[in-house]
Amino acid sequence: VSRGRRFDSPSAAATAAWAARLAPLLASGTVLLLDGELGAGKTTFVRGLARGLGVKCAVRSPTFQLVREYHPLVHVDLYRLNAGDVAMLGLDDYLDGRHVIALEWGSRAGPDYDWGDASVMRLDFEMVGPRRRRITLSLDERLPGPLLTLLESLTCAL
Ligand SMILES: Nc1ncnc2c1ncn2[C@@H]1O[C@H](COP(=O)(O)OP(=O)(O)OP(=O)(O)O)[C@@H](O)[C@H]1O
Ligand SMILES: [Mg+2]
Repeated sequence: VSRGRRFDSPSAAATAAWAARLAPLLASGTVLLLDGELGAGKTTFVRGLARGLGVKCAVRSPTFQLVREYHPLVHVDLYRLNAGDVAMLGLDDYLDGRHVIALEWGSRAGPDYDWGDASVMRLDFEMVGPRRRRITLSLDERLPGPLLTLLESLTCAL
């Protein structure tokens, strides 16, 4: 399986539905770093992810509350933070193999952030049309083989 995969979404509903299908494949203990410009679809993706994880509460944009927990999902927004601030969010508590952590503007954690034993997946959202979004996945070499195989059915090779 190639380490770079992509999904071309034609609509917000398609992005959410895709995220919902991805959700059960993510072993707890996965960290998702979501990047892409304002309005690219990161929160839309997280809403679908929540649905796929069986979360019953409405996911809001974590604007002032930077970390919101919807067990087993943890939704984080790093938009206003610098790499140095991220360590103060207490995310380590969630790196216990029982949570899926989705971070909007995840690259702000910096390339050296220590995610412990979690598998890390980077998703980059690009706006390629009014409703078209290209979501490019970069996969951690630690992602379990079966997950990589399942991802093949949900994504295309780069
Ligand atoms: N294919 C698509 N996928 C996702 N969202 C789409 C798509 N097409 C249109 N949209 C619309 O684009 C907007 C995406 O907003 P969303 O809040 O998900 O973006 P975001 O990346 O979280 O932005 P921010 O950086 O401000 O948090 C929504 O209004 C959504 O309806
Ligand atoms: Mg958002």
